[in-house]
Amino acid sequence: MTKFYLTSFNIKKISSIQTDILIVGSGVAGLCAAIEAAKYTKVLIITKDKLQDGNTEQAQGGIAVVLSREDSFKGHAEDTLRVGSGLCNEEAVRILVDEGPSRVQELIQWGANFDKEGENFSFTQEAGHNMRRIIHAKGDATGAEVERTLILKVKGNKNIKILEHTFAIDLLHKDRICFGAVVYNEKEGKKAIYAQKTILATGGIGQIYRETTNSIVATGCGLALAFRAGAKLMDMEFVQFHPTTLYIAGAARILISETIRGEGGMLKNKYGERFMGKYHEDGELAPRDVVSRAILREMKKSNDTHVYLDITHLNSRFLENRFPGIMEVCFSLGIDIKKDLIPVRPTAHYMIGGIKTAMNGGTNVENLYACGETACSGLHGANRLASNSLLEGLVFGFSTGFSAGKSIRSGGRIKNIPEISSTMDYGNSKDLDLDKEDIKNSLKSLMSRYLGIERDGKALLEAQEKIDSWSSYVMKKEFFHPKAWELQNMLQIAKLMQKAALIRRESRGVHYRKDFPKRNDSEWQESHIELSKDKDFEIITI
Ligand code: SIN
Repeated sequence: MTKFYLTSFNIKKISSIQTDILIVGSGVAGLCAAIEAAKYTKVLIITKDKLQDGNTEQAQGGIAVVLSREDSFKGHAEDTLRVGSGLCNEEAVRILVDEGPSRVQELIQWGANFDKEGENFSFTQEAGHNMRRIIHAKGDATGAEVERTLILKVKGNKNIKILEHTFAIDLLHKDRICFGAVVYNEKEGKKAIYAQKTILATGGIGQIYRETTNSIVATGCGLALAFRAGAKLMDMEFVQFHPTTLYIAGAARILISETIRGEGGMLKNKYGERFMGKYHEDGELAPRDVVSRAILREMKKSNDTHVYLDITHLNSRFLENRFPGIMEVCFSLGIDIKKDLIPVRPTAHYMIGGIKTAMNGGTNVENLYACGETACSGLHGANRLASNSLLEGLVFGFSTGFSAGKSIRSGGRIKNIPEISSTMDYGNSKDLDLDKEDIKNSLKSLMSRYLGIERDGKALLEAQEKIDSWSSYVMKKEFFHPKAWELQNMLQIAKLMQKAALIRRESRGVHYRKDFPKRNDSEWQESHIELSKDKDFEIITI
């Protein structure tokens, strides 16, 4: 059973506020949408933690964008399409690539500083790119620079209000029309926010896995609440793993940027042997799925928990300037990257699937939009090209904000908000003695084991049994706190990911099925799996 709402409420009995546009999430996509929409109308951003606590702040590598004279739109588009393994929406790719430079120039006008070599940008390289086209900031702190710039801009805008520590429990919806959201914060409890348009920009799902590069807030809540409101989700089987995350027992799994390999970093196994040449002609700069699987093989062969990244051959001054953040964090854990090898292993990094959107961010639910990692326009196909995600946030955040904002100015206001209340029968369930952290940890382990870099039908069916069994009691309970609602959202999303992974009986991009190890173009070329409350699943072309 899919519940419409996670919690019971009566809209007449809880406090309410109104805004023109409600944006849930405060990473690059949400902030860009807010800045653009605020040119036309009033915007309220809510975020479940602090403004800068999402994945954007932690992004290291950079922004892939055509800004060098030697580069071309055609080249960037071709690289995106090739890495996307036959599943990219070409219109989305064209928009990203063509509009990318203007969005980045705008960001620079707003105060963002990208690293330069003399007068020119300092471009770096990552896997899948045919040339150096990735700009970066403060060496390896690109996301933080983007977020800093956007937060300053948002805070200086009178049309934009911000509510931090506010958790979106569910969208207010009726008959596939969205009217805002029911939210929760510690001070006021549940509250309704009525909005003419609602934009979901809640980021990724990494926290569903035991090990991830993602921020603590990336729990997939936006996807789950959109699904409950009737939105279609697409490509949920495609989760990108990042090959090189710092692996030190007890320390956080911090990203070790792919740009390290772009600058010549070498992957070595326990015996000090460089191994990527055996797996792919591009060596360390092979696509991420290839590198992640190769690392798994090497770990298995050497019966070890990790492999190593070696950059000791690079000039010390260069390393200090280029990777100051990574250097500092490693140093604090006793690793001097100028002299020592860095222990690394793959972890969950980026959700390619998400809420199915048109090019303007619109969804199949009226007045509901999505952008950034939460959305799925088909841009990334079956595998995301490195450093295309900050650009996606800038380009599609802008177009979503424009589309939502403009429609309000031109008379798109909803006049009759219906009386909505959730009267689900939760029986006499109370938030009693269920150990939610224990279930969350079990789910994370299950996802890492059964829906990780390699999958197979038998394991996916086992995963289904376990998720169904936990859901049978967790989803029926009524809870009263965000941590518990997060768990319910995670279970809901895990189920959808498992379903899509089972249905796609081929290997493509980041989805690798051991029982179907080949790409199957005759059955699956251009086919996407769409999931919805109404139709369970459909296989569609876009
Ligand atoms: C990285 O710096 O390796 C991450 C870049 C990305 O995920 O696009």
